Amino acid sequence: MQGDGRERREAGEGRESSSGTDGPRPLRVLADGTGIEIVDQRLLPHRLAWVALCDVEAVAAAIGEMWLRGAPLIGAAAAFGLALALRRDAGDAGLAAAVDCLAATRPTAVNLAWALQRVRRQVQPLQPARRAAAAWREAGRIAAEDVAANAAIGEHGLALLRDIAARRGGPVRVLTHCNAGWLATLGWGTATAPIYKAQAAGLPLMVWVDETRPRNQGASLTAWELGRAGVAHRVIADNAGGLLMRRGEVDLVIVGCDRVAANGDVCNKIGTYLKALAAHDNGVPFYVAMPLSTLDLALADGDAIPIEERSARELTHIAGRSAGGEVVEVCLVPEGTPAANPAFDVTPARLVSGLITERGVVPADGAALRELGRRAAAARSDEAARPGEAARPDEAVRPGQAARPGEVA
Ligand code: MRU
Repeated sequence: MQGDGRERREAGEGRESSSGTDGPRPLRVLADGTGIEIVDQRLLPHRLAWVALCDVEAVAAAIGEMWLRGAPLIGAAAAFGLALALRRDAGDAGLAAAVDCLAATRPTAVNLAWALQRVRRQVQPLQPARRAAAAWREAGRIAAEDVAANAAIGEHGLALLRDIAARRGGPVRVLTHCNAGWLATLGWGTATAPIYKAQAAGLPLMVWVDETRPRNQGASLTAWELGRAGVAHRVIADNAGGLLMRRGEVDLVIVGCDRVAANGDVCNKIGTYLKALAAHDNGVPFYVAMPLSTLDLALADGDAIPIEERSARELTHIAGRSAGGEVVEVCLVPEGTPAANPAFDVTPARLVSGLITERGVVPADGAALRELGRRAAAARSDEAARPGEAARPDEAVRPGQAARPGEVA
């Protein structure tokens, strides 16, 4: 143990955690229940290593420093972090402080606040002695529900891909931005779920992977995932998408999201908006994979979404593997050059062809989203009346078995 609640373990090739048919997972509970383990995404694609997080400070640091990332994964990890905090101090003040500490780590993805409030609502009415265990169970449910939601997104997205395949010969050419894959969720990914489902169904496809400057989640994470799964793909410079669309070499765009406002405006990784503009100009369908945990009906439109400003160093420096196999960081700009690094942008709803949700593909507009929210709330209260049928918390995050390399479906 590093003395700060974090412990690093190396994982050999092909040893990411898996839950069989639902594919690889980036988060699992430790077998002795003392914490969680996550894939340290900063080391990919060069090394696959797991790190154990055993207290709230370690979870908060891992989210803030992007050891783990992606809206749904951030939310679930924070929920486990809150449960760990309650083991140490389950009083009202301890609960509030832990929620505040975790919520401050990354402001844009609404899944973080959503998951923390969900756990808080569950445990606040309980005696302090019962809060930690209840929070741990709720975190497990959040994780299990994310896997199920993404699997359903995959099925709905697969129907879109099949439609395109039926209209054109040859592989369906999908463009994606950032990493909205299984690494960013509890399983399947959001934008990648239709891709993995299509691959499993034998539907030929080819994925254009935006490198996604400045942190290169596309080049380092999405390309790694797709390569292991045997999905045909090519990494492209972020600026190449417009040309490819104009040449007719992109059949549709599918991206993830960090927050969708009540009017259907979509906040996602910086650069998404430019892809939506290019898609619109070229008549290319632009879809957003959105689990309901990413819908924020409390915000009227995307202008109200807080945009995270990250360190200039993410832009001015870059890390990669040298010819000698060593990972090194180099500087890209003249010494002392100032840089600005907004991490997300907002794509107006009018540029979005549809939102692929676990409840089907819906238009990005206020009426459709209000109806979706209403139906989801009704389903939740039905489920609360039948607790035995709720998602099994241990299913998503049980201590992992080894997976075959690239095993996804
Ligand atoms: O800053 P990141 O890497 O956490 O941003 C991630 C993205 O923008 C993803 O596309 C989004 O969270 C969807 S993840 C299923």
